[in-house]
Amino acid sequence: MSAGDQTIRAAGFEDAEAIFRLIKRYPEELLPRPLSDIVQNIDRFLVCEAAGAVAGTVSWQILPEIGAPRDPSVEIKSLAVDPAHRGRGMGKALIKAAIGHIAALHPSQVIVLTFHPDFFAPFGFRPVPKEKLMHKIYMGCVNCTKYDSPFTCPEIAMAFTPGRA
Ligand SMILES: CC(C)(COP(=O)(O)OP(=O)(O)OC[C@H]1O[C@@H](n2cnc3c(N)ncnc32)[C@H](O)[C@@H]1OP(=O)(O)O)[C@@H](O)C(=O)NCCC(=O)NCCS
Repeated sequence: MSAGDQTIRAAGFEDAEAIFRLIKRYPEELLPRPLSDIVQNIDRFLVCEAAGAVAGTVSWQILPEIGAPRDPSVEIKSLAVDPAHRGRGMGKALIKAAIGHIAALHPSQVIVLTFHPDFFAPFGFRPVPKEKLMHKIYMGCVNCTKYDSPFTCPEIAMAFTPGRA
């Protein structure tokens, strides 16, 4: 997908270090991800190139569902746009492209935990109680060093079902 000088494409192993550096730029907003985690999940990353360099990224993770193995949720995570490229539609284009990939899987819902609910609302995401996302809370938040509980964390949980937004 291309717009202006921006091209969104599937990430390759050669992008892993650039993705690692991009995520590390936002320690307040994003959970850090080891390079090994990025490499092992590179097929679940998109990057946005601008002027031949990686300037944005997004990824997703399939969350297991107890009792509903054929109907899992998918979490969008690690959305980051290089500060020099913010405000030019790159974040929006990355989310749109990620939703396109995820929607083809027909998940029961797409979720996100975010400090920026207004950014996600136009895509159909709506706030949901964190209790509804217990798998995510267990898997993603159990190692958090910032907050003692997901319920004291100020991030907003949001969800939507592709095709029903
Ligand atoms: C959030 C982020 C990805 C947005 O990327 P971006 O390329 O600057 O965003 P865009 O230019 O595509 O903006 C799209 C729209 O969202 C709005 N927007 C951008 N950042 C926003 C924010 N932090 N909160 C609310 N709205 C926001 C823009 O005003 C724009 O609205 P418009 O379409 O009505 O003009 C980027 O600021 C970033 O990397 N932030 C740090 C990491 C982070 O917070 N990631 C999200 C974690 S869930």
